Amino acid sequence: MTDSYAVIGNPIGHTKSPLIHGRFASECAQDMRYTAIEGPLEPEDAFAGAVREFMAEGGRGLNVTAPFKLRAFAMADELSDRARMAGAVNALKFEDGRILADNFDGIGLLRDIESNLDRPLAGRRVLMLGAGGAARGALLPFVEAGPKELVVANRSVDKARSLAGQAMNRGALVRASSYADLAHEGLFDVVVNATSASLTGALPPVPATVFQAEGLAYELAYGKGLTPFLRLAGDAGLRQLADGVGMLVEQAAEAFEWWRGVRPSTRAVIEQLTVPLE
Ligand code: ATR
Repeated sequence: MTDSYAVIGNPIGHTKSPLIHGRFASECAQDMRYTAIEGPLEPEDAFAGAVREFMAEGGRGLNVTAPFKLRAFAMADELSDRARMAGAVNALKFEDGRILADNFDGIGLLRDIESNLDRPLAGRRVLMLGAGGAARGALLPFVEAGPKELVVANRSVDKARSLAGQAMNRGALVRASSYADLAHEGLFDVVVNATSASLTGALPPVPATVFQAEGLAYELAYGKGLTPFLRLAGDAGLRQLADGVGMLVEQAAEAFEWWRGVRPSTRAVIEQLTVPLE
């Protein structure tokens, strides 16, 4: 029987998920269908109802996207360590009537940086801008990658402190910083923009002094072209600029492997979805 999966979000019209999973399924010869569901925003518990309906119809798993990642977290029977740390869930698997939940956004980002962009974080200085959901999701995989130092900068420094505190409990060298203090932090090997600033065309107030020509600037947003953050990095002389296309495909590959037990290749799909950074 054809196994059924879907992505659920709202809005959902823009999603690349069915295309990505469709390609994975044919490459790995999996008998599965993957659709997109526009989840209900109101009332609060309607999302859980839609998930249970999908399960009742025989659905095997869901990818969860904005704005439902917290609601998916709340309804899970079992949470992975990563999902717990992120406080959010982006993938569900249904097994014997139970809802298993994980978050592959952070590991997808890490894989893109380390494997596709050839930038292992071990021993490196890493700067993460933002302390919201996206940064929280990336924190644990980043810490486990063993950077020399991880600095989290946020407008609200308290939020960055609380995030750094959680990571330090795991023995990593993680510090919080204000944007202003970044001017005294020297150069970073990898700078990740995990704020939502680019969604409104805004620039987080990061000083250009953090960038070094040999470094990597990574913009989590996908398909926004040269965002103000990437432009700033490019103007500072950085040669390696990336947006979130690889992360999008890598997190999908993680979910696919979790569901199906086979790992798809990602390079061709990333190439297909890449929008030039001009
Ligand atoms: P997400 O889940 O996408 O991370 P979020 O949890 O609302 O969204 O968090 C948004 C993040 O982007 C926060 O770190 C926010 O900074 P504050 O906590 O200081 O508000 C950051 N952010 C949003 N717009 C920004 C801007 N124009 N400049 C700098 N940071 C910005």
